[in-house]
Amino acid sequence: MTARPRGATPRWTAASLLAHAEQARKTAYAPYSKFHVGAALLAGDGRIFQGCNVENASFGLSICAERNALWKAVSEGVRDFTAVAVTAGPRHGASPCGACRQVLHEFAPDLWVIWRGKGGRAVKRRLARLLDSAFVFPGRKP
Ligand code: THU
Repeated sequence: MTARPRGATPRWTAASLLAHAEQARKTAYAPYSKFHVGAALLAGDGRIFQGCNVENASFGLSICAERNALWKAVSEGVRDFTAVAVTAGPRHGASPCGACRQVLHEFAPDLWVIWRGKGGRAVKRRLARLLDSAFVFPGRKP
């Protein structure tokens, strides 16, 4: 392995991050929808936070994989993110829902968002493109 210069952004690819998301999907708790989702959130320091969806008998209390990964990271003191990958299976796409886009935007408007499109191919977009004119609290600097 080649040494990485100090402070340089660790290398990552859409495929490698999707593989981490796929691993996270294994612990999904989705007895109601049966739709298992995994997310892998890459922090600026190279750490990867994994999340899965966790459903509840009171459906509205269920949480998406992306927000689960974000809560984990923020509660560990991490607020700087580079990319998130989401998967609902090797051939199934799940682009982040509107609520997750807004929540991710709070910390990383320039985030790369990766998911599987048609035929399982990786799609990569900037969050700002997926969530044009996000809500920002009045007076808070963007
Ligand atoms: N879900 C996610 O975890 N992430 C998404 O981006 C889309 C939807 C979950 C929520 C729920 O548990 C199930 O998928 C069906 O909506």
